[in-house]
Amino acid sequence: MSPPACRLTAPKKISRRDALRGFARGFAQAATTLPLLGLLNACGELSLSHDRAFRQPGLREKAAREGKRFGAAAQSWQLDDPGFARALAREACVMTPENELKWDALRPSPETFDYGGYERLAAFADAQDMALRGHALVWHESNPAWLEDALKSARRAEAEKILREHITRVTRKTQTHIQEWDVVNEAIDPRSSRKDGLRETLWLRALGNTYIASAFHAAREAVPGLKLVYNDYGLERGDGYGEAKRKAVLRLLDRLLAQGVPVHGLGLQSHLRVDRPLGGIAFTDFLRQARCLGLEISVTELDLRYGHLSGGAEEKDAFAQDYLREYLELVQQDAPLGSLLTWGLSDRYSWLRQEDDAARGMLPLDASLERAAMWETLRERWLS
Ligand code: G3I
Repeated sequence: MSPPACRLTAPKKISRRDALRGFARGFAQAATTLPLLGLLNACGELSLSHDRAFRQPGLREKAAREGKRFGAAAQSWQLDDPGFARALAREACVMTPENELKWDALRPSPETFDYGGYERLAAFADAQDMALRGHALVWHESNPAWLEDALKSARRAEAEKILREHITRVTRKTQTHIQEWDVVNEAIDPRSSRKDGLRETLWLRALGNTYIASAFHAAREAVPGLKLVYNDYGLERGDGYGEAKRKAVLRLLDRLLAQGVPVHGLGLQSHLRVDRPLGGIAFTDFLRQARCLGLEISVTELDLRYGHLSGGAEEKDAFAQDYLREYLELVQQDAPLGSLLTWGLSDRYSWLRQEDDAARGMLPLDASLERAAMWETLRERWLS
């Protein structure tokens, strides 16, 4: 299954009339048009090519030429930043709503669904000919208190109903924009006391280990054409954690597929920490086995963390890019990597800034929205 190449649009001229017509299409669309109005030139035409950066093709265009797709996670409030919105439209052809589709953001109470953040991202995606990928239908984090309480007391049948109803409603509501989902996120924990390595989560406690299969079946039954992904982190690590995780993830995926559970892809989150060794042959063997199961491998949340390294800035930057080059080589060793998304596009809004507001070098664009070392490394080592 080749990755869905995103529809590529060359920089386009939008007349003032069309730009203003954007307001008439309702606030959501205007919210999309607004950030771009800053590009109205003297003749009143919105010419994206007038912006210096637009003269250089972005990663989206370079990737599309090879039938690949590049994207990034984004949060709806970040679209208030016109420079960032422009850069996102230039560089990415697919977006992952970073938080807007998680249970806590989407469903503050059992009866209330708040799609506002998602809809703003969807409107922007429409305006910029981008796709969206869904994240995440089932995760042990970012769950509202009412869900945790409900699952603590629910009988298995009730818990199953909560799970299936949510997945059905959300996948059907978003299917015009989202054809690929992280159905289950981070279900394996090498530190778990369980022999199957499953993470002790609210879903496992409520439903047992069948919650994973239930989630994938519910998504498939709700919207049959969806591409359904199991997503996890640390699979690239060359330490005991990585070894144990790869073994447990492979065993889980093998069991699910043997039972006829519709899992189509494995998402490698790829939150790289350069102080950790990469898994080398063990990692490439793992990827080969996952592909042998018929799974499509994609990178879903790439970023690079190395601020804690000792040494000068240039030395650390060089070391980090060498590390990223090695990672890209491992992931592409036996097959092309069709889909690569970073977790954020610019250091300006990286989640890693929550830990260290001076953190840098994590993403393709720096905090000034200039192309950074990661942008060049992706262009050189992922794109030909
Ligand atoms: O929206 C609320 C806001 O109303 C409230 O005032 C504020 C303070 O409590 O919190 C806001 O929610 C925060 C949310 O991000 C939106 O900004 C949550 O506290 C915060 O925990 C949440 O962090 C996100 C985290 O996942 C947990 O959901 C990060 O932005 C996001 O980058 C991170 O992403 C995860 C992936 O989903 C899965 N893979 C790992 C990755 C990094 O941890």
